Amino acid sequence: MLFSALATLLAIITNAKAHSWVEQLTVIAPNGTFTGTPGYARGNYLRTASGFSDTTMTYLLPPGTRSNVTQLLPSDKLCKDTQQEKSQSDGSPRLQASAGAPIALRYQENGHVTLPQNQPGKPKNRGTVYVYGTTQPKGGEKLLDVYGAWNSDGTGGDGRGVLLTTQNFDDGRCYQVNGGDISERRQKDYTHEANQLMGADLWCQVDIQLPTTAPSGKLYTLYWVWDWPTAPGVDPTYPHGKTEVYTTCMDVDVQGTFANKQATDDEYAEEQDLNSAAIPSEFDDLSGQETPVESSSSPATTSAASAKKATVTAWHTVGKTVTVSQDTTVTVDASQPSLTP
Ligand SMILES: *[C@@H]1O[C@H](CO)[C@@H](O)[C@H](O)[C@H]1NC(C)=O
Ligand SMILES: *[C@@H]1O[C@H](CO)[C@@H](O)[C@H](O)[C@H]1NC(C)=O
Repeated sequence: MLFSALATLLAIITNAKAHSWVEQLTVIAPNGTFTGTPGYARGNYLRTASGFSDTTMTYLLPPGTRSNVTQLLPSDKLCKDTQQEKSQSDGSPRLQASAGAPIALRYQENGHVTLPQNQPGKPKNRGTVYVYGTTQPKGGEKLLDVYGAWNSDGTGGDGRGVLLTTQNFDDGRCYQVNGGDISERRQKDYTHEANQLMGADLWCQVDIQLPTTAPSGKLYTLYWVWDWPTAPGVDPTYPHGKTEVYTTCMDVDVQGTFANKQATDDEYAEEQDLNSAAIPSEFDDLSGQETPVESSSSPATTSAASAKKATVTAWHTVGKTVTVSQDTTVTVDASQPSLTP
């Protein structure tokens, strides 16, 4: 098929220098199938938009201009300049979703999953994705006020938001079409029909649930943070390792409350089209999950917050088990440090 051959060729070309960001947000129906009209990040550039390039959507911290490559500063902004305002670009509307709705955030792996040999010293789970949520985003929001600060019960940092999920960047299925072993295996295991959006690739996703208490008629802000560090002592260019954090900032238009709160307990439809399916293990985890909204009261003490922040920039050698998919468990051994914000 000419289209898929072209898509593959394009994927190979863009592979050379490509990064990841949230390309699309979609509500997930109770059976695990994407439903409704997709939404997009603030100030989104579609890949087909004029002026699009990787740099129009990629946001890296610390910035490439910082001489200390492991240093995150309290002044570092969480959102890219083009994503500071709660505004959408033409053709890239905001997602509409009810409070409590399960949502898939999709991004491309760009070889970060399927060509691990390209970048030595990277974590085996291909980095960790954190998704934070808040009804009280700040203009000029700072990375370190959120990342490593907010926690799942809403009591971390200044208490304005919550950590909605922590997932592996590698969702266990996603791939770009290339000749690497991982991609070839996944092309067989997770076959799908090439479509206009993804071409022959299968995008990665992280599945979250909006808090059931997110106020209807208002915007709920999501921060996607991908922690993609290089371990010290592996790459001679970075003897002390390298901190690499990428973010995408998004708002969701909250409309009503999820009709059936038990909905995510329903059966995930087996054998469904992978072009529009949630990740079963992540989706199951959402079942019955009660996500608190941020606490309106007292922030945590400043010293506790900054102590927590300090750990973000430091390496911790920990034996950590991460579940990559329902049937694969990867153990990150002690020689593979991982960041524990
Ligand atoms: C670079 O930043 C890290 C993390 O903040 C710090 O521990 C280290 O001392 C800094 N290195 C230099 C050479 O300033
Ligand atoms: C899942 O549910 C949605 C919405 O009710 C429906 O459109 C879709 O066809 C279902 N998917 C499967 C695989 O049954």
